[in-house]
Amino acid sequence: MPSYTEYLKIDELLALQCPLSEGPEHDEMLFIVIHQVYELWFKEVLHELDHLEDLLARNDGAHARGTLKRILTILKVMVAQLDILETMTPLEFLSFRDRLESGSGFQSYQFRELEFALGWKDPKALERYPAGSEARRRLERRLASGSLWDSFLHYLASSGVPVPRTDLERDVTRRVESSPALREVLIALYRSQPVLAELCERMVDLDEGIMEWRYRHVKMVQRTIGTRRGTGGSAGADYLLTTLNQPLFPDLWAIRTEF
Ligand code: HEM
Repeated sequence: MPSYTEYLKIDELLALQCPLSEGPEHDEMLFIVIHQVYELWFKEVLHELDHLEDLLARNDGAHARGTLKRILTILKVMVAQLDILETMTPLEFLSFRDRLESGSGFQSYQFRELEFALGWKDPKALERYPAGSEARRRLERRLASGSLWDSFLHYLASSGVPVPRTDLERDVTRRVESSPALREVLIALYRSQPVLAELCERMVDLDEGIMEWRYRHVKMVQRTIGTRRGTGGSAGADYLLTTLNQPLFPDLWAIRTEF
């Protein structure tokens, strides 16, 4: 039996926090730990999303609901964790910010994988990673594969919902686009199939949860660096503001006006 320390590789894990600032500055440890924790959550959410897609493909709605609930619970924790970083004042952050050079969450390939897996596809995201690198390979695979939205539509179809063929056969390398024919089907589903409508609502929870993370992240950015440019090279908060209010699953929102 491996011990706790061996099984969880605690020694290796605790050797991975390496501040770069002189001293080092006290707050850099928090900054490193929180980003590493996020990367671990991204890994776990991707793991669960792959499982969720498998369950939907196998028509196992009961377990799919359980997995979706787990993902939503993790997402709540991910949003709440931003509170911790907000205890760091702008001056505390500036004390080590220049050490980050061009490093930024912008470069997180797992975050881009998460976006792709959820259907927020943007081939331009690939260009940030060198051809042939592990990050690029992972993103290429996710870009070419169907997203959660596609698995969800196929699951509805195999449950007897008349999902339009054009939606089932859409180009999975593109972002999910609004489909009036699908909206009609979803509206009928909400009126007559409460169990499936409940699943649709959990998909909306997921979409809203991602938007919530984006909103809380940009607010944290504004209170920490104001309107400075990002270390990743973008316009900073002005860029992040353009990513808000953009639903992953537009038709699940649009039907609310049409009921
Ligand atoms: C003091 C804390 C933070 C600041 C000031 C900050 C700032 C920024 C800025 C300015 C950007 C825009 C891209 C650029 O760098 O030019 C960005 C993007 C991003 N940050 Fe942060 N961030 C912070 C903490 C975090 C944390 C804890 C995470 C968790 C992993 C994170 C994840 C991301 C991601 C994924 C993006 C890309 C978002 C997108 O393109 O939609 N950030 N951040």
